[in-house]
Amino acid sequence: MKSDLQKSSMITGFFATRASRVPPSASLSHCLSYVELINLTTAGSRGHPQRRQLDSRPIADETMSNPSAAQPLSSADAVLVQGASRGIGLALARRLVERGEAGTVFATCRDPAAAPELASLAGAHPQRLHAVALDLLDEASIAAAAAAVGARAARLALLVNCAGVLHEPGGMQPERRLADVDAEAFLRSMRVNALGPLLMAKHFEPLLRSAQRAVFASISARVGSIGDNRLGGWYAYRASKAAQNMVTRNLSIELRRRARGIICVALHPGTVDTALSEPFQTRVPPDRLFTPDDAAEKLLAVIESLDADSNGRFFAWDGSEIPW
Ligand SMILES: NC(=O)c1ccc[n+]([C@@H]2O[C@H](COP(=O)([O-])OP(=O)(O)OC[C@H]3O[C@@H](n4cnc5c(N)ncnc54)[C@H](OP(=O)(O)O)[C@@H]3O)[C@@H](O)[C@H]2O)c1
Repeated sequence: MKSDLQKSSMITGFFATRASRVPPSASLSHCLSYVELINLTTAGSRGHPQRRQLDSRPIADETMSNPSAAQPLSSADAVLVQGASRGIGLALARRLVERGEAGTVFATCRDPAAAPELASLAGAHPQRLHAVALDLLDEASIAAAAAAVGARAARLALLVNCAGVLHEPGGMQPERRLADVDAEAFLRSMRVNALGPLLMAKHFEPLLRSAQRAVFASISARVGSIGDNRLGGWYAYRASKAAQNMVTRNLSIELRRRARGIICVALHPGTVDTALSEPFQTRVPPDRLFTPDDAAEKLLAVIESLDADSNGRFFAWDGSEIPW
């Protein structure tokens, strides 16, 4: 990824320049639209993909000498998407199973019986897609899900943490100012967005360690970048995504000590048309708002292009690197 990274640092510099044009006095009421603007600026580089072409490299030879070389998923791989009831997670699970990009797909959510789209996907692919109950707020349910997956698959080639909260009906809302901070909402964001992926690693590590190449990817958000934060607001979401990023970085160090083939990354999906972003889409031009299917395609392309050097880093949907 070295030449890609040189290019991406130029792009990051471009974003920093754009961000510095926002007047320091810009009020937080402008915050949401500007957060979107940063995402949109990223989306604007669609025609200049940073990722390398996957099929232009001698993958088999390179993988034999380097287990964490870039490698497409194969029909022999088992993968897991956590948070697959709707939104980006559902689209990832659908793409993986419908395109045959993976052999067995485990798709987790809190209550599979209350996830009709996932149930319908599982019904259409009963041999290859397995819906598994998993609530990030309940460690016992994570342990039980890991045991259930382990009973069906010896190893996982990919685990994607998708679940995340920004707002909840009648409950937490992203804070515009300090006075909006709510202790319970802050802790809930931390538990789902940051502690959740950490507990996933704790319980699923044995299944990742036994794979020759395994990617542990957590869907983060550009607004979780401390280096990229120039507007403030959204205390709980930003802080929980920053904590999720630190968790990812820590895991990239510890898990790599035990298994050479593990790659841990944080990924920013762009602005995606889901329930999570829906209240904040008013100023997003339609061509800059990805569908969940678009986002899934782009994220999987980035995942398949990762190699050993990618471990412990934060990438956007187009493969460009984001500062922590
Ligand atoms: N959409 C965007 O523009 C955007 C931008 C940047 C980053 N992201 C990130 O992308 C990820 C996916 O977001 P999305 O837009 O697809 O959101 P979404 O459509 O609102 O879906 C959120 C998912 O999180 C799950 N979830 C919530 N609390 C959970 C818990 N306690 N345990 C297990 N699962 C839980 C939900 O499951 P239930 O069905 O059970 O509620 C649902 O599957 C999130 O991490 C988000 O922060 C999104």
